[in-house]
Amino acid sequence: MPIRTYPDPVLAQPTIEIDNIDGKIAQLAQVMLETMYQAPGVGLAANQVGIQKKIFVYDKGDGPNVVINPVIVETSGTWTYEEGCLSVPDLHWNIVRPNKVHLQGLDLDGNTLDVEVDEYHGRIFQHETDHLNGILLIERLSEEQKQSTKKELQRMRLSPPANSHDGLHLLFGDE
Ligand code: NI
Repeated sequence: MPIRTYPDPVLAQPTIEIDNIDGKIAQLAQVMLETMYQAPGVGLAANQVGIQKKIFVYDKGDGPNVVINPVIVETSGTWTYEEGCLSVPDLHWNIVRPNKVHLQGLDLDGNTLDVEVDEYHGRIFQHETDHLNGILLIERLSEEQKQSTKKELQRMRLSPPANSHDGLHLLFGDE
């Protein structure tokens, strides 16, 4: 499936809870995993492929996982990590977020997930849960990062690279 990129409005819309984990959801998870591996990326939320349902997939290097109806119930600490997003191609930032994350949700078999993770795993959970709530990582940038990114984008506009994505020029709007 094609991956939606900023400023596609589906990325800013909160998704809807899944109340019946049926064969269609299993099929969706499969297609999302294929799309993620093809990109390639470590995580993918359903609205990134235009489906407004609360489901994300990820693989932090040890195999595929599916999380349905995730809710982050508690966080603690802080951790800085360089983050990018398939929906905001080619850009990366060191983003400060909580380190430890307590997530509740369901797996593809409908079993309860109730897990506490940290660092890289916690970062994936926060990034993908944000997606499902309609929040892109650019909303997590510091003011300083927003300013320097604006400048960078203006520079790119003066001499756009051959492979530039149209959406990037709109990242923070025109001044
Ligand atoms: Ni993302």
